[in-house]
Amino acid sequence: MNTTMQKISIEKVKTSKIDQVDFDNLDFGSVFTDHMLVCDYKNGAWETPKIIPYQPISLEPSAKIFHYGQSIFEGMKAYKDTENKIWFFRPLDNHRRLNISAKRMAIPEIPEAFFMEGLKALVKLDEKWIPQKDGSSLYIRPFIFASGKGFHASPADEYKFIICLAPSGSYFSGKVKVLIEEKYSRSANGGVGYAKAGGNYAGQFYPTQLAAQKGYSQVIWTDDNNHEYIEEAGAMNIFVRIGDTLITGPTSDRILDGITRKSILQIAEDEGIPTEVRKITVSEVVEAAKNGSLKEMFGAGTAAVVSPISTFGFRDVDYDLPELAESYATRLKKRITDIQFNRAEDPFGWRYGL
Ligand code: PLP
Ligand code: COI
Repeated sequence: MNTTMQKISIEKVKTSKIDQVDFDNLDFGSVFTDHMLVCDYKNGAWETPKIIPYQPISLEPSAKIFHYGQSIFEGMKAYKDTENKIWFFRPLDNHRRLNISAKRMAIPEIPEAFFMEGLKALVKLDEKWIPQKDGSSLYIRPFIFASGKGFHASPADEYKFIICLAPSGSYFSGKVKVLIEEKYSRSANGGVGYAKAGGNYAGQFYPTQLAAQKGYSQVIWTDDNNHEYIEEAGAMNIFVRIGDTLITGPTSDRILDGITRKSILQIAEDEGIPTEVRKITVSEVVEAAKNGSLKEMFGAGTAAVVSPISTFGFRDVDYDLPELAESYATRLKKRITDIQFNRAEDPFGWRYGL
């Protein structure tokens, strides 16, 4: 892999769009900053990244992304503290995971310097766009896709690595009601579930639409074999609290190795919360809901942070989760966001200053 990189070139916008943005009412991922980073892979090597004004990209109709779905992405955030210092959260883990996804999808890996230097230069340039309102942050979307042309069903010879930035508020508005899915599967052993591949998300949209018609905002995926185990949600890893124990499933071929998930586990252990990483059966969750020992369910992810689940549906029955005065979700969300926003000590060394 060519890992040497020339200096990143920067073409700035003539006029910023920032004044048109209502930073008090941001939703998730729908407004974009002034600039983006673009890096092309051609002739077997990544070229020097460029920062240019945020703009549409032009592609051949035969570009392989359109036909064969060679596309991967990451999700990360930048946070601004009260002294205007900017922080990332475990960004090297995102770089590592992007390359894990790249390998699985036969996409060339991106060298660390291209990713990290590109990320830092772009966020520095658009730093005024990082929201400071509580609950908001700058969502960062690095992605790579096949721009090379041809209908031959084989990996493309050209790719684009792009980073776009979106000042964002919460991913969910309101209560999160989920449906435990028993018909459709998100992933299978030997498949691409552990990769952040675009197609993993496309495949979830239809079952999620069906669930939405019944009033659920997310699907909880179960294993493709017997739909016996709870695996993850569309954009989150899942935690359940039975009694005082916090449980999450092990990562596997089928499940994304979430950075929030592993951070929450470490924080919970640090807080003295009993944790278990083991397979969670649907039947034990339903049983625990019936006998009152199911105290909490929540999702964890970069976009969703820690999102408590208010109700889960299974086989046409809804089970409401109790509203606890002192929930693990609230405690763990506070601890992780305090680290992310530099409001508290970071004993784990996760913050990465710009
Ligand atoms: N699972 C899926 C399918 C996701 O899309 C995400 C979001 O990135 C997660 C889990 C959580 O991962 P992370 O905490 O690294 O954002
Ligand atoms: C993230 O949490 O960053 C994700 O990638 C979820 C996304 C599908 C919105």
